[in-house]
Amino acid sequence: MDEMQSQLCHYNVVLLLFVVMMSMVIMATSSVGVNWGTMASHQLPARNVVDMLKDNGFDKVKLFEADEGILEALCGTDIEVMLAVPNYMLEEMSLDPGAAASWVEANLTAYAYPGGVNIRYVAVGNEPFLKTYNGTYLQHTLPALRNIQEAINRAGLGSEIKAIVPFNADIYYSPESNQVPSAGDFRPEIRDLTVQIVQYLYSNAAPFVVNIYPFLSLYQNTYFPLDFAFFDGSNRPFRDGNYVYTNVFDANFDTLVWALTKAGYPDIKIIVGEVGWPTDGDKHANIENAKRFNQGLVRHALSGEGTPARKGEIDVYLFSLVDENAKSIDPGSFERHWGIFEFDGKPKYELDLSGVQANKGLVAVQGVRYMVRRWCILNPHVKDTDQELRGNIDYACSLSDCTSLGYGSSCNHLSVRGNASYAFNMYYQFRNQNEWDCDFSGLAMITEKDPSDDRCHFPVMIAYGNSLLLLHKKLLDILLAILEGCIVFLLLVS
Ligand SMILES: *[C@@H]1O[C@H](CO)[C@@H](O)[C@H](O)[C@H]1NC(C)=O
Ligand SMILES: *[C@@H]1O[C@H](CO)[C@@H](O)[C@H](O)[C@H]1NC(C)=O
Ligand SMILES: *[C@@H]1O[C@H](CO)[C@@H](O)[C@H](O)[C@H]1NC(C)=O
Repeated sequence: MDEMQSQLCHYNVVLLLFVVMMSMVIMATSSVGVNWGTMASHQLPARNVVDMLKDNGFDKVKLFEADEGILEALCGTDIEVMLAVPNYMLEEMSLDPGAAASWVEANLTAYAYPGGVNIRYVAVGNEPFLKTYNGTYLQHTLPALRNIQEAINRAGLGSEIKAIVPFNADIYYSPESNQVPSAGDFRPEIRDLTVQIVQYLYSNAAPFVVNIYPFLSLYQNTYFPLDFAFFDGSNRPFRDGNYVYTNVFDANFDTLVWALTKAGYPDIKIIVGEVGWPTDGDKHANIENAKRFNQGLVRHALSGEGTPARKGEIDVYLFSLVDENAKSIDPGSFERHWGIFEFDGKPKYELDLSGVQANKGLVAVQGVRYMVRRWCILNPHVKDTDQELRGNIDYACSLSDCTSLGYGSSCNHLSVRGNASYAFNMYYQFRNQNEWDCDFSGLAMITEKDPSDDRCHFPVMIAYGNSLLLLHKKLLDILLAILEGCIVFLLLVS
């Protein structure tokens, strides 16, 4: 009897182990993707980043171009890749099928062989119908999409690789008088064109790709209910027919589902091409909110519950992988702080990508090299020289990144003198710590003591600078050494 029980028990343990392992296998099959942008003054080595993607279990990545170094680093991995034709190429791609064919040959066929890069999508343009583009790309988008897909088809890759268009959520809306998803439709002035694109995508078994930003809903509207931006319970859910909405992501997504349904495509596959939350540059942009949003999103997307109007897993690409210090800040200072990882590949917060809420951290990019631990600050002996100081701060900031100094940001508590040190250091780090870039009319000095405080971080740059600048630095160092040698020689001779 006892023996039988212990055997049963053993059997149960084995069964349990089996179930646990199976569920791990099942869990491992679904994951979220991530956007990898490269608008930064200093780039992490692509190989190290790809290893990090694998370490963390990211199995999909979306690029904004067809970066050779990144594609080479992705060779031989299983990671699904979305490449992109940038907006400035749309006109050429639309007018000249030959140009589309050469793009495909150079940037796609060259990598999409067995054992090469697992390319699945080509994004034709990026948010080409965005309101702020004033219609610049309207006429070129569909012809470019066709030409690219046809070139892919001719290369024999049409069944695996789909051309798509990532749209911003500003192409659809619900009228002011009836702000519910079921009232949603495409903007009237672009509706016909958008529906033609949907038709083309659908006939080609390609998905509709949309970028959704609850952070921007909050940023653009002071009266937006903060809780509604997140996924963990809103105190004011709203009803739309039989559907109940507790977060703006679902409401926005379903506005699209309704717009597509009205156009006659209720079941076209939808991918969320960008979604995320920044960590600096605005009062709502901080680590706590970013973690809360992204963790809630991952759990929601992978849970299979879907949105009220579309059940099932939601395919999402987080925005974004790393901070990019050279992005345009026209939309706001937060633009340079969307990364889940810092510019140097360190995770900013814990994020469980499996969505089961184990308190699991992310693995950093390994083997990153930094410049020397040195900072450029305002010389403490300098007395207040107001006008001169401000001029120098503005100059340093205009050529580097001071988005952490602004209102609501991590370094906004600094004094004018702190501002000066921050600005001087950012410029100095951007310029690869050249000694002559830490002068500022004699106001600045180099220090080996970290000027950071518990909120405001003074970075030391990674040692993968703009290669041209680095080359210049090397050449200059050599020239300076020769010059020094000459002077010493001349002194000795005389
Ligand atoms: C490949 O794509 C990049 C943009 O990502 C572009 O600069 C380059 O011209 C493309 N190659 C061809 C042959 O079109
Ligand atoms: C769009 O139009 C506005 C107002 O006319 C203008 O300020 C802006 O520069 C234009 N943008 C583009 C991309 O043409
Ligand atoms: C520091 O710079 C930021 C951004 O320019 C500004 O908002 C803030 O007022 C400055 N602080 C002081 C004390 O001047």
